[in-house]
Amino acid sequence: MLEEKLSLEGKTIVITGGGTGLGREMTLAMASAGADLVIASRRIGPIDEVAQAARDMGRRAITVSTDVTDTSQVAALMERALDEYGKVDVLLNNAGIVRGKGAEAIWDISDEDWRIGIDTNMSSAFFCSRAIAKHMVERGQGKIINVSSGFGYRGGRDNYMYAVGKGGIVQLTRTLATSLSRHGITSTCIVPGFLPTTGTDESNITLPRGDFIPIGRVGRPSELGAVAVFLASPGSDYMNGEAFAIDGGGLAGGVAPTGYAPEIPLEI
Ligand SMILES: NC(=O)c1ccc[n+]([C@@H]2O[C@H](COP(=O)([O-])OP(=O)(O)OC[C@H]3O[C@@H](n4cnc5c(N)ncnc54)[C@H](OP(=O)(O)O)[C@@H]3O)[C@@H](O)[C@H]2O)c1
Repeated sequence: MLEEKLSLEGKTIVITGGGTGLGREMTLAMASAGADLVIASRRIGPIDEVAQAARDMGRRAITVSTDVTDTSQVAALMERALDEYGKVDVLLNNAGIVRGKGAEAIWDISDEDWRIGIDTNMSSAFFCSRAIAKHMVERGQGKIINVSSGFGYRGGRDNYMYAVGKGGIVQLTRTLATSLSRHGITSTCIVPGFLPTTGTDESNITLPRGDFIPIGRVGRPSELGAVAVFLASPGSDYMNGEAFAIDGGGLAGGVAPTGYAPEIPLEI
């Protein structure tokens, strides 16, 4: 009974950015829970490798090279998913740029930098959701899962497109929930804290060390797998419009540190 609630058997899941980092771990976990997959990102190599691993587990998996900032490519991705499987049960909007150009003074950010950052970290989730929402409404069911960040809740010093985009993801989740759940579609959001990946390795933003995190260590990307499975599964059917942090308690004490806080001894 519980296993049934957590099973993804027979579910078709579209995931963006599923070839590397957190997306890779979530894709493999969802495959192990029974999902059939459509894996998208710009590079084909990483997603092909993950798709092969899913097929080795006995799942169906296809890859579609897609730039999620390009709405015609997003439309083609959803068409390909529907041609292959006839339905999409879950959309997991994971693609994002952690690296990009990193922290920069506001006056050095060009219009193009802003647009690429916001398009990748926020608009892409809107584009993908928009492209599949009507199909989900027609079926009267579907789940949209977005990926925000701790930076969706706190300012990031000189980190405009990431923090603003990820904050927008939280609001997109709420707005999808309030708009689409009367049609049977729920929307939730995963809020990772710091789980080092090549994406974070290559960023030049200041990242928290384990000693800022109540659990006392950074996360492991594989720890996101079970969260994705749960939010994609019938077990989470009554969860809607909410964001779920997986951050070792990083946000539990509030949104600080932003990098500006004075050093105050916390032990009394
Ligand atoms: N790791 C963390 O600690 C952490 C913390 C908070 C939030 N997050 C979020 O978690 C998600 C995954 O991050 P990660 O750490 O796993 O980094 P990552 O390994 O760099 O993964 C990002 C993925 O997004 C894809 N992507 C980027 N731009 C794209 C585009 N325009 N079109 C299609 N795909 C695109 C990349 O593939 P291609 O380059 O091949 O397109 C890549 O597979 C991101 O949304 C990130 O903001 C991560």
